[in-house]
Parts: sequence; C-alpha cells; structure tokens
Amino acid sequence: MIKVISVEKLAELIHKHGLKQYFIDLMATLKGDFLRWQEFDKIPRPAFHVPDGVIELMPTADKQLFAYKYVNGHPKNPLQNKQTIIATGQLSKVSDGHPLLISEMTVLTGLRTAATAALATDYLARKDAKTLALIGTGAQSDFQALATALVRDIKTIRYHDIDPKAMCRFEKNMQTYNFELVPCKSNEEAIKGADIVTVCTACKAHAIVIENDWVRPGVHINGLGGDCPGKTELDKSILTRAKVVVEFFEQSFIEGEIQCFTEQEAKKVVYAELWELIEGQKQGRTSADEITVFDSVGFALEDFSVLKLTYQLAEKYDIGVPINMIPVLKDPKDLFSVLNDYGDNQALQIHQTAQTVGSI
Ligand SMILES: NC(=O)c1ccc[n+]([C@@H]2O[C@H](COP(=O)([O-])OP(=O)(O)OC[C@H]3O[C@@H](n4cnc5c(N)ncnc54)[C@H](O)[C@@H]3O)[C@@H](O)[C@H]2O)c1
Repeated sequence: MIKVISVEKLAELIHKHGLKQYFIDLMATLKGDFLRWQEFDKIPRPAFHVPDGVIELMPTADKQLFAYKYVNGHPKNPLQNKQTIIATGQLSKVSDGHPLLISEMTVLTGLRTAATAALATDYLARKDAKTLALIGTGAQSDFQALATALVRDIKTIRYHDIDPKAMCRFEKNMQTYNFELVPCKSNEEAIKGADIVTVCTACKAHAIVIENDWVRPGVHINGLGGDCPGKTELDKSILTRAKVVVEFFEQSFIEGEIQCFTEQEAKKVVYAELWELIEGQKQGRTSADEITVFDSVGFALEDFSVLKLTYQLAEKYDIGVPINMIPVLKDPKDLFSVLNDYGDNQALQIHQTAQTVGSI
C-alpha cells in the first residue's frame, strides 16, 4: 500500500503539527540534507517548454530514498483563474524501488521554497534585518513572509504587485500576524528601506523587476522567479555587485538569474552553492555593507527533504490514505492474476481468429 497525501490531508497534517514547528523541522531537514550534498545523485531538471509555460520533472536520490516532483509553471494561468504552479510528487525506497508516498506538492512547494529561502537568508542577510520587501504577492508570498520571520525579527513588510487584488489578498492573510504591513505603489517604493528583498514574480521574459540603482548596500535579495530559460527578474548589474549564491550551478546556469552571463562569467559571478555555506566551507555575509543574492531556481533536493519530512509526520500522526497502487501478488511473476481476480473472466476472452494490425 502506498500512502497518499491529498491537499486536505496535508492541511490536516500541518494543523496537527503546527505551521511554525513544520517550518522549523523542514529547515532542519533541509540543512541536514544539504550537509549530505555529495551523497545525492544530481541532474539539472528535465524541462518541456510549451507555448505558455514549462513542465518539469525534479528527481534526486540518496542511498535510501528516491524522490521526484512533477511541476509546471504557466504564468498566464491566473488570467483563467488557475494557479501558475501546481505540483505532485513521489517518494520511493531505493532498495526495491517501491513507492512509499504519493503527495500533493503545490502547497509543499510553497513550504519548501520558503524554508529554503529562509535558510539562505539566515546565512546572507544582516542579523539586524527588520524590514522585508516582497515583490509579487502571489501564491508563494505568504509562505515567504512567514518563513523569513522565523530567521530574522521581521517587524515590517513592504510589498507591491502589479495586480492590486493580489496585494489585498496578501494583506488579508497577513492580518492575523504581527507585522506592520505597508502596501506600496511600485517595486521601487517597496524596496526603499528594506533589509531583505524577496522577488517572486511570474512572467516568462527577461523582466527587470528590480533595477540596479534601487539596491542599496547591505541588502539581501532572494530572487525566486527567475527559474526558467528566458525568465529572469533582476537587473544583471546587481549580480556583478553582489555575493551570489545558487543551489546547484549546473541547473542555475540554465534557469537562474545567472543565465544572463556566459558560463565563464557566471562562474566568476557565483560565490558559492548553498551547501557550501551550510557546511561552513565558505562564509555567508561578512560585512554590513555587502549586497547578497540568493539566485534560487528550486532544486530537487528541496523536494526530497519536504517529501521525507511529510512522510515521517504522516506516519507519526497516521494521516494519509493507503491506496493499492502496486499489485499485491502471491507469485511476483503472475501479474495477469490481477485481471483474473477481478470480476467476469468472460471479459478477458480473446477471439481465436488472428487479426492483422491494419484491421484492428
Ligand atoms: N525558486 C523556486 O524554488 C520557486 C518555487 C516556486 C515558484 N517559483 C517562482 O516564483 C514565482 C512566483 O510564483 P507564484 O506561485 O507566487 O506565482 P503567482 O502567479 O501566484 O504570483 C506571481 C505574482 O507576481 C506578480 N507580478 C508579475 N510581474 C510583476 C512585476 N513586474 N512586479 C510586481 N509583481 C509582478 C503577479 O501579478 C502575481 O501576483 C514564479 O515565477 C515561479 O516560477 C520559484
């Protein structure tokens, strides 16, 4: 039996465990897995580019577990009242290839993207950071705001989106939390005075959502929306002034902000991969004045971590629906018995007269 976690079951699990505790456990799981970076099989994700978006698979494995996520990115979907990003995923045992968990991953993506950005923020933002600017208040933004507040004492959130309805929605969800909420008229206004700037807009173009002139010394930027070839958000000159950290260079060079450079230039621009900061091989922020950028595209290891944690918690709380997705056979070679054991055998009869393929 495979455990299936639907959207409703995931919501039940988060309510049982508590969102704050879930984020804390997720950051600890991510940290632990990033520390084992060398143990994972890693490839840049395969992507199918379709007219209005992208459909991707994100696989990775260590010696025990294999995980993959199916995810899309269709920035025009909200115009038809559909989400830009949806995802599902699976966790399996490496030893026999049998799946353990099939899960919704749209919400899990929101959680793991925010937890990963918060982890990077913890290494890269000033310790005294209090003001967060959010550019783009779509599906990811609430998760981003809450996870950032777990690593820095965020008092104020300044925010802007080109869609005023998205700003109202964000404000409504954030009202129960203890932030000073400052809606702004432009991206430039939103980042004024911000210590941390999280950019999570969706537009399949080389958009300049943040201009170089607006970025003052000491700021940390999480760039989340530049995550596909031909889709970036930051003025290229910001990156040459900044300490740039990516998840996995091979994938980030194809998809991230650094795609705007040649490979040789990109290698010079990138200071570190995130695991190197976590492992302590390289230091994060070293001065109050430096500009830091986490050029995030989302890497399969983050999906591995969130699936692993969710599976552990689903077992602990006995949440999830066991579903027979794999045939249970008395004889592992008797796969045909699955059809024989079901109902009327008359339906399995094949006429003796041979037919050519052409006549079928
Ligand atoms: N790095 C990662 O791991 C990761 C994970 C998930 C999503 N993403 C990316 O993050 C982005 C946001 O995802 P989402 O699910 O929140 O999408 P969404 O469509 O729900 O929200 C995006 C918002 O950006 C706004 N926007 C577009 N252009 C803008 C601009 N120039 N200035 C201000 N606002 C603007 C839109 O109006 C929309 O409200 C997407 O590009 C997605 O691909 C990255």
